[in-house]
Amino acid sequence: MIHNQLLKGKKGIIFGALNDKSIAWKIAERAFEAGAEFTLSNAPVALRFGEINDLADKCSSKVIPADATNMGDIETVFSESMEFLGGKVDFVLHSIGMSLNVRKGNVYNDLNYNYFQKTLEVSALSFHKILQTAFKMDAINEWGSVLALSYVAAQRTLYGYNDMADAKALLESIARSFGYIYGRERKVRVNTISQSPTPTTAGSGVKGFGSLLDFTERMSPLGNATADDCADYSITLFSDLTRKVTMQNLFHDGGFSSMGMSLRAMTQYDKSFKVKE
Ligand SMILES: NC(=O)c1ccc[n+]([C@@H]2O[C@H](COP(=O)([O-])OP(=O)(O)OC[C@H]3O[C@@H](n4cnc5c(N)ncnc54)[C@H](O)[C@@H]3O)[C@@H](O)[C@H]2O)c1
Repeated sequence: MIHNQLLKGKKGIIFGALNDKSIAWKIAERAFEAGAEFTLSNAPVALRFGEINDLADKCSSKVIPADATNMGDIETVFSESMEFLGGKVDFVLHSIGMSLNVRKGNVYNDLNYNYFQKTLEVSALSFHKILQTAFKMDAINEWGSVLALSYVAAQRTLYGYNDMADAKALLESIARSFGYIYGRERKVRVNTISQSPTPTTAGSGVKGFGSLLDFTERMSPLGNATADDCADYSITLFSDLTRKVTMQNLFHDGGFSSMGMSLRAMTQYDKSFKVKE
């Protein structure tokens, strides 16, 4: 899709591109096509796989390692980004999530609390840390745009999403609370995109992910939104066309969040009874 250089002259920071399945990876590719310049950041362990260097080469970008739970690391990302890009940034993407309880198969009524804290630290508080650091360093230009990725489990209970649901609820709340201050003081907008289930490394870790993907596809009148679709939407939110959109959780899910039952889902549900008979 042609993006008409919608982000020409814009500078940014993209956190969370792990491999070419990552939502952040697709957003980086689209942002580059749309004329943006940006740096890429990920946790040192994630960089070991080395794939992000290919993305950096392709997008004339620079990789800055950072554990997004570490304030010192985040400060380094902002200072090195401003140096590399030659000034303040216009957009920041937070595309970071991880739950050790999900990874280890601990169910929600038998959580490991150290892991739970880690889930909140990595998947939600890191967003506050990025915002607070950017605010203190005055690293984002007026009318800049900060975006994080969320999921409908923040509002509705979905089997298997576990403590990530709580992390997403907190993430969305941080977008509102900081969005007020950042908007009032610096005219910077802060939003979350609530994205369809997407087959990425993080997504595929959720219990029963294949069935969830099929279910939401059948329930959504427009079908699941892919990572590429999410990239397209994100570009609009980084662009000047959405300057008054802030403190929102924006559903990008083919209509899933407004559905109760669809014909396609009901047809499949009926079939399951027929098999049993
Ligand atoms: N895949 C889905 O179904 C789906 C749906 C809705 C929202 N999301 C959200 O989208 C975002 C991106 O996930 P994805 O699906 O592209 O998967 P992904 O696995 O490609 O990306 C997750 C990223 O988080 C990074 N990360 C983990 N711990 C970190 C730390 N301490 N410091 C810095 N980075 C760290 C990983 O290295 C990885 O790059 C996450 O917030 C996820 O919850 C995903």
